Amino acid sequence: MASVTKKIKFVRDTLRIRPKGWQSLLWNSSMAQLGKVGPLMSPVHVSIEPTNACNARCPVCETGKGDMRRSSGFIDHKLFSDFLDQIHKSTSVLFFYFMGEPFMHPEIYRMIKIARSKNIYVETCTNGDFVDPEGVIYSDINKISFQIGGLDQETHSRYRIRSNLNKVLTNLEQLIRKRNQTPGSSVEIDVGFIVMRHNEHQVEEFLSWAKGAGVDTANIIDPCARNMLEARAYLTENEKYWFYDREAFENGVLRPKIVPKNNCVWVWNSTQINWDGSVVPCCRDPNGKYIFGNVFEEPLTKIFNGEKSRAFRKQIISNQQNIDICQLCSGYGLPNLNPIRENDFHIRHHSINTGSISVKNV
Ligand SMILES: C[S@@+](CC[C@H](N)C(=O)[O-])C[C@H]1O[C@@H](n2cnc3c(N)ncnc32)[C@H](O)[C@@H]1O
Ligand code: SF4
Ligand code: SF4
Repeated sequence: MASVTKKIKFVRDTLRIRPKGWQSLLWNSSMAQLGKVGPLMSPVHVSIEPTNACNARCPVCETGKGDMRRSSGFIDHKLFSDFLDQIHKSTSVLFFYFMGEPFMHPEIYRMIKIARSKNIYVETCTNGDFVDPEGVIYSDINKISFQIGGLDQETHSRYRIRSNLNKVLTNLEQLIRKRNQTPGSSVEIDVGFIVMRHNEHQVEEFLSWAKGAGVDTANIIDPCARNMLEARAYLTENEKYWFYDREAFENGVLRPKIVPKNNCVWVWNSTQINWDGSVVPCCRDPNGKYIFGNVFEEPLTKIFNGEKSRAFRKQIISNQQNIDICQLCSGYGLPNLNPIRENDFHIRHHSINTGSISVKNV
């Protein structure tokens, strides 16, 4: 009985949160549950990388640490717009960021506006250095998340190397003011705090500052690392912010508390597109190791149902332990969307500690 109630709730929430593309979400999720790799409908969530260039040098990011093996570039806004013409009927959500700083793209506001005019929910996250508040309001984006690394310049730039905290906070404050002064603007403004060893003592202060600053949500982001060296340097003392297995870590192995076992609903419902149109499974493939095709050369549905995508899904359900990128996955599951801005201030914790990665109220 409980499971029927759960299923009804899932369908009801799906219809509410993804008014477009829900057929695809239900079909593709059912295919995932049945262990079938296709045929699939066009993905309901699409992540697109505006650029993989960045001003900052965050040391656990392939772009920031100079370990990006794809060429650096900016998505062509005309190709982007044509691509949206192709997918907008089934795309409910566009995550408009990946391995670079979205607001370095000179056409970013125009591209967001185009997606919004096609009734796609758009969200992004940013280091905040280049955000133009007027551009954001003009773009009509649904959600923007500024992500900082500390409450003072010294702490902030231990991770957000080359980022100017004063500039970031000025842009954030101006955006809040502008949004509040603009009738009809409903952009949700979030501020995230990437918790690390050198800033974990500032978490409480961050939360009370965020509440006073007038953002809609404050988000505590558990830190990721790519290897033991980075883990030793950046993971917190407090285990509350760990999604890695502490015991394995003590034995010299970096492994999430929950390693997906022949299971990933994400690759049945979502896709990740790089600035040059190449398609990869998800955000755990920053360097384009598993390229399924190119959306500037062939239709997304063809790529999504193509041989390479199917083979990848097949390996997910049969032999995921041999897919290297899945072994450090911090975010499998479907995104937790909240398309309507809430009235009150909320604190969230982006954590795997609830079972799978989720953003829960704390
Ligand atoms: C690669 S960044 C691209 C967007 C933008 N440049 C930014 O940093 O916000 C994508 C996301 O990764 C987050 N991030 C970067 N390094 C992280 C780390 N070591 N642990 C957890 N999240 C991290 C960023 O805060 C952002 O939410
Ligand atoms: S700001 Fe974002 S893209 Fe730039 S180096 Fe940091 S995490 Fe990477
Ligand atoms: S890395 Fe994570 S999201 Fe990507 S395919 Fe593997 S389990 Fe899925």
